[in-house]
Amino acid sequence: MLVLYGSKYGTARRYAEEFARRAGTAAVSVKGRVSAAEEITVFFGALYMGRVYGLKRAVKKAAGCSRLLVVTVGLADPSEPAVAESRSGAVLAAVPQRLHKSVQVFHLRGAVDFARLSAGRRLLLKMLRSMAERTDPAQRTPEMRAVLETEGESADYTDFAALDAVLRAAGLAGEAAQAE
Ligand SMILES: Cc1cc2nc3c(=O)[nH]c(=O)nc-3n(C[C@H](O)[C@H](O)[C@H](O)COP(=O)(O)O)c2cc1C
Repeated sequence: MLVLYGSKYGTARRYAEEFARRAGTAAVSVKGRVSAAEEITVFFGALYMGRVYGLKRAVKKAAGCSRLLVVTVGLADPSEPAVAESRSGAVLAAVPQRLHKSVQVFHLRGAVDFARLSAGRRLLLKMLRSMAERTDPAQRTPEMRAVLETEGESADYTDFAALDAVLRAAGLAGEAAQAE
């Protein structure tokens, strides 16, 4: 199994590393070198402005695989159907149509630490926040609400238990794989 991640600040990488640990393998950056083709590729990608970071590279690296599991990691709550729907749409839009039947998509919640963000990304989040504040609460998107919840500080919604579903889809029983 090939475990890849596309991560700017480490959240998607930590999920990938924990997943790989439970699967008995190692996680590799999507920018790194991959040797042999594997049956299954599991890719963890962070969301930036609605796009999954590193997804295009992951699709290329998974070329010889029969299954590609894409796990998005973002601040908005994926238990909201609208969030899951828009993220799945973003994934499928970046994956060639012919591969859709071999792709399975999952969504996890990430983290943000304002102090560690680049000046550009901090500015972007500030702009998103002020836009969210000016939007009628009833009209706010889940992403807007997530940005407002962080209040310019940090938030960490990382939940490794959410990896169980991905482990099961990859043919590894969640609980059994967790045991050392
Ligand atoms: C500039 C910027 C844009 C973001 N856009 C989204 C987004 O569109 N949807 C979302 O759910 N989270 C979004 N996030 C939150 C990140 O996806 C979240 O912090 C994630 O855990 C980052 O993963 P990483 O640490 O692996 O880079 C954004 C964060 C920043 C700083």
